[in-house]
Parts: sequence; structure tokens; C-alpha cells
Amino acid sequence: MRTTVGIIGAGPAGLLLARLLHNAGIGSVVLESRDREYVERRQRAGILEQGTADVLRAAGAGERMDREGLRHDGIELRFGGRRHRVDFPGLTGGRSVTVYAQTEVCKDLIALQVAGDGGPLLFGAEALAVEDADGARPRVRFRYRGVEDVLECDYVVGCDGFWGVARKAVPEELVRVFERSYPFGWLGILADVAPSHDELVYARHERGFALLSMRSPSVSRLYLQVPEGTDADAWSDDAVWDELELRFATDDGWRLERGPVTQKSVTPMRSYVHEPMRHGRLFLAGDAAHIVPPTGAKGLNLAVGDVVTFVRALTHQRDTGSAELLDAYSETCLRRVWQAERFSYDMTTMLHRMPGATPFDERIQLARLERIASSRAAGTDLAEAYTGFPFGG
Ligand code: APR
Ligand code: PHB
Repeated sequence: MRTTVGIIGAGPAGLLLARLLHNAGIGSVVLESRDREYVERRQRAGILEQGTADVLRAAGAGERMDREGLRHDGIELRFGGRRHRVDFPGLTGGRSVTVYAQTEVCKDLIALQVAGDGGPLLFGAEALAVEDADGARPRVRFRYRGVEDVLECDYVVGCDGFWGVARKAVPEELVRVFERSYPFGWLGILADVAPSHDELVYARHERGFALLSMRSPSVSRLYLQVPEGTDADAWSDDAVWDELELRFATDDGWRLERGPVTQKSVTPMRSYVHEPMRHGRLFLAGDAAHIVPPTGAKGLNLAVGDVVTFVRALTHQRDTGSAELLDAYSETCLRRVWQAERFSYDMTTMLHRMPGATPFDERIQLARLERIASSRAAGTDLAEAYTGFPFGG
């Protein structure tokens, strides 16, 4: 097999990349190791920055998002029994976010791809290695239906997430990894109950962090901070609701509505950046290159920024003959990646009970939250970061 762009991974990065390339008249092949059902059911944060929603619309994949997505003009920070609303449009000159599950984004992109309106998307095709990444004809060796095969490409984009293989094709001596792990994770539940608040609620409590989010007007998504290594099954549904209730408690008697829990899982927490994001004709995008703690809801949005930057660079080269934007790919993406890492780290350390924290550390957390609640400048920094950094280039 051969194609212009070989894409490893059919998560948001790989699927959107295939769509954008098709719309630009550039051929691609997507190799995805899991089956379609797995990809379409994988629960992830569902917050789309304004720029992400605009890209999906322009790519022809925004119709259901516009019909079913929920526009949110703010979030609530909760601490010390108080509630503070961060007003996105008021602080950013009109920006907001769209709540639309990542599972739905993937379903919409897959539907377009398999409707014949795009290149091959092979499920059950496991990439084994990227070869000759810095040559003129990089190749992806893969196994599909038990048979090993090779995909010859002009370019390879590793959209294969944190556990993928593409990164391994970058010579170790050229790689710098920056990472931080956190001694806690999030226990997340899906529940068939209307969200108890019409916007997301981020709660800092001495017992730990809690987040109220949603998937639709009738499905709630809630998280609570748990020690790393927690087994989701160790928490009964009632125990989860009881703990959430404690952490969301406010002085004004706000009530958390309960309902049947339909999914329960624990997400680990990590910050991670792999530099560079390019080696020869191999480019890395999304979780293959960087991971952020979900506190800032940046993961999907960073993946979108990477693939938009790659397609802009590749079409620039096709149209002008100049490789300058391709050569700047890594630096362009990393500027935005590091801003998202900073924001996600700030939100995580401000809102979570940090093991080993001293009473001084806890007062500093409250002072950071008070600052956001009382200063337009501090509120603007959060609102600008949450609603999205401009795509690079
Ligand atoms: N061969 C083929 N496919 C692979 C391989 C491989 N060797 N290794 C991993 N994959 C696939 C995975 O099965 C997955 O479907 O690559 C895909 C990577 O998708 P994601 O992990 O979703 O990463 P990305 O597309 O960058 O999206 C980032 O998704 O994980 C969330 O929180 C993250 O919201 C962020 C977004
Ligand atoms: C989610 O809806 O899953 C979600 C929302 C916001 C976050 C993280 C997760 O910061």
C-alpha cells in the first residue's frame, strides 16, 4: 500500500487529520489498532474550545455538534463553601466553549470517513514500527487481519496516543522528555440524571477535588479526586454520591441530584511533553507527543491544534514549494502545548488536595482562588486559557 500521509491512530487527532487532508485534496490512510466500537465508546473530556468547534464546522463535521452540543459561557469555581462564576464572554471579548463529548466527535468524523468521503480507515490494523522516518520514503510496518504489510508514505503522522509506537522512531539521542506525575487520579462516573448545574463546577475541598460536568441535558459526568492506584470497584455508587455531596457543599444549600450510575472508571493524572514533535518525515500529534492533566480540558483541543498546524504546513509546501512551515512544525505546536501544560498544571495544583501539602500550601491555594474571584486580570487569564489559545503559525 502507499499513500501521501500515513496516519497511525483513529482518535480525535488521526480522524480530524484524515478529514482535513481529504478536504485539502491530499490522500491518507488511517491505521487503527482497536475496533470501531472501542474508539466510539472511549469516554474522554468533552469540552471544545471555540477554535476547535470552528475547525470541525469548516471541515464539514460540525452539523450534529451545532444541533446537540451545548454552548457554555462560563464555569463555576467552588471553594470554602462559596461559589464564583467565571464569565467567559465578559472576560475574553465574546469567547465560549461547546460541551460535546469526544465520543461524538469521533463518531461524526468516522461517519464521514466510512461514507466513502475520505481515504481508507482500517480498524484492527496495528502499526508495528515506523521505518526510514528521516528518509524520502518513510514506511509504516503494520499487521492487519493477521498479515504483516507495509504502508509506503511521503509523510507519517503519529496520532497513536501515549502508548503508541510512532515516538519510538525518533532517535533517543535527539529526544527530550518533560514530565510530572501526580499522586492522585480521578474517579469518574456517568449517571442518568440531569446535571445539577447548567455549567461545569470545579470544587476545591479539603477532602479533595470534585468536578461536575455533563454529556447532555439528561446525562451527568462527575469526577472526584482519589489516591493514585484506586480501584474504581472499591467505591460503591452511594459512596461516590456521598463524597461528591460533601465536596460540592455550599453555604447556600445547593443540592446535588443523584441517579443511576452507568459507568465508573479511574483516570491517572500526568503532565508529559516529548520534544521534538518531528523527525524527518515523521510528525507527532496529540497524545502521542503530549499529555495534560484533564483539569483544564485541553487534551482534545491540543490534538486539534497540532493537526491544523500540520495540514497548513503541508498545503503550504504543496502550493509554494517551501518547507518552512513543515520545518517550524514542532516549534509552532510546542508554543501552544506548553501554554496548555502551564494552564493544566495551574488548575490541577490550585484545585486538588496535594498530598504532603502544609497549612501554608493550603492557604496559598485559597489565595489563588480568591485572586481569580476578585481580579479581572486573574479571571481573564483563566478564561482565555480555558476557551482556547490561538492555533500556532
Ligand atoms: N497502531 C494503530 N493504532 C494505535 C497504535 C498502534 N500501534 N497505538 C495506539 N493506537 C490508537 C489507539 O487505539 C487510539 O485509538 O491510536 C489512537 C490514539 O488516540 P488517543 O489516545 O485518543 O489520542 P489523540 O487522538 O491524540 O486524542 C487526544 O484523546 O486520549 C484523549 O485525553 C486525550 O482528549 C485527548 C485526546
Ligand atoms: C468531562 O466532561 O469529561 C470533563 C470536563 C472538563 C474537564 C475534564 C473533563 O476539565
